[in-house]
Amino acid sequence: MSEKVTAPSIRGMKGQRIVCVTAYDAPSARVADEAGVDLVLVGDSVGNVLLGYDSTLPVSLEEMIHHTKAARAGCKRALLVSDMPFGTYQTSPEDAVRSACALVRAGAEAVKLEGAFVDAIAAIVATGIPVMGHVGMTPQSVNAFGGYRVQGRGKQAELVVEAARKVADAGAFCIVLEVIPAVVAERITSEIAVPTIGIGAGPHCDGEVQVFHDIMGLSPGEPYKHTRRFLNGATMMVEAMRQYADAVRSGTFPDEENTF
Ligand code: KIV
Repeated sequence: MSEKVTAPSIRGMKGQRIVCVTAYDAPSARVADEAGVDLVLVGDSVGNVLLGYDSTLPVSLEEMIHHTKAARAGCKRALLVSDMPFGTYQTSPEDAVRSACALVRAGAEAVKLEGAFVDAIAAIVATGIPVMGHVGMTPQSVNAFGGYRVQGRGKQAELVVEAARKVADAGAFCIVLEVIPAVVAERITSEIAVPTIGIGAGPHCDGEVQVFHDIMGLSPGEPYKHTRRFLNGATMMVEAMRQYADAVRSGTFPDEENTF
């Protein structure tokens, strides 16, 4: 558990269980790191989860750099991967390399991008930056999908399998499979050589990724089908905040112990 996790070590974990979680700042990255998570992802889900956007599409490279620097400060052992935001890699391999370099300068040890942009993946890998792939329900394509819908059902399964194969062949060290039928994820996991990391992709992937705020119970509303609350974080925090407010109002805080 103590050795630094690297992209090659994740690549070598095919067939094992890889644990990945998002983090957008130092405290959450530290929690994940101290718990022994293998991979911390500065996801562009920061847009929906923290920044109040409706989707990941408005997230800028500058915002990803800002949050990567913050997560870097809390992440020591786990591999720190940053998402390449919409519009920063689809345009050309040169743009993709430039954006990936900016994220690495901010502290990322690898980058993740969505879809089978094989030339971009190969160019980034050739620069010496490991790439995590991402296929299936890729949120940056929400407008093309007509909503956040399960991808790869029925005849569409071949498209997702083919995309995963291309991404692996282009040099990705692992691939996120998002919101696809479990049977399709199982097939991809058995057919491609690099580890698969699922979210809403069933139990047969080589690992799992979840959004920190979803598993900690900090996301509002009912949990998504693909997630589980391991803590009722928001409820506990509201209760703690009430106790703080009561203590201030009743004059029991600050007391002698907190006074210089
Ligand atoms: O942005 C993100 O959080 C992600 C994961 C859910 C895979 O891409």
